[in-house]
Amino acid sequence: MTHPDAYREIDRSADPAAVVASLEVRGRDPGQRRLRRRFLRAIPIRRRDTVLEVGCGTGVVLRDLVPLVGRGGRLAGVDPSRAVLAAARRLCRGTGITLRLADGAKLPFTGDGFDVTLAVTVMLHVPDPIAVAREMARVTRPGGRVAVQDQDFGTLALTHPDRALTARILDGVVSHMYEEPHSGRRLPAVLRAAGLEQVRLRTEVYQETELKPYTRTFLERRAANAVRFGIVDAAAAQRWLDGITAVAEAGTFVFTINYYGAVGVKP
Ligand SMILES: C[S@@+](CC[C@H](N)C(=O)[O-])C[C@H]1O[C@@H](n2cnc3c(N)ncnc32)[C@H](O)[C@@H]1O
Repeated sequence: MTHPDAYREIDRSADPAAVVASLEVRGRDPGQRRLRRRFLRAIPIRRRDTVLEVGCGTGVVLRDLVPLVGRGGRLAGVDPSRAVLAAARRLCRGTGITLRLADGAKLPFTGDGFDVTLAVTVMLHVPDPIAVAREMARVTRPGGRVAVQDQDFGTLALTHPDRALTARILDGVVSHMYEEPHSGRRLPAVLRAAGLEQVRLRTEVYQETELKPYTRTFLERRAANAVRFGIVDAAAAQRWLDGITAVAEAGTFVFTINYYGAVGVKP
């Protein structure tokens, strides 16, 4: 049986091409771009840094890193999905980024090699986040930074005329999909458990008021999963989506979710 979270094992999911496409849609969303840039600045990423991204997906974050590290920098990405790595190889062509197939809990690098290791919206999807953070720490040089960022589904706020149905769908779907839907707020503890020091928390809010493609697709997928997991029937899921459309047409749509970033230093 495939895992209910498509990102856990993308290559075994129902439609890997759709997952690849959705990562790129998210990557292009203006609010998401702002979030990423603020997080990368907070780590910070410096010119000539050697950086590894764990769970790099299609390379959205790696491509943002190219101008930050400059010509003297070195960038590498790993991901366990062949489908996303194939897309990353195509989308990152000519950038000099090195891409490898690997699980975050077993990185194919010797110790102490990177100035920075980071994982963006990955810890939510892995069975053992501390094991991944330990591996990130192992391959980071002493004094280097380990940085992780995740959304936290306990902070999702949405305007909708039916609050009870909204809570049933949103809370029901994430409790089926993830071991820890509140993964974001737990990231500082994950880094400390992995032996990192001077751990800082950095919270960003993703805010959307126009129902742009990324948010629309996100909510449509929540409705489809609510039906798939038997939380609501198809009629209720459609009623919920119609409520969202009505709110957006009235100009009163608000969708916010916190993204927690944690940065620690390798002793
Ligand atoms: C939501 S995507 C984020 C991709 C990219 N970081 C971004 O922000 O666009 C999550 C990624 O984590 C990867 N992933 C899942 N399990 C993993 C694991 N055990 N180790 C490393 N990456 C993993 C998935 O294949 C997927 O590409």
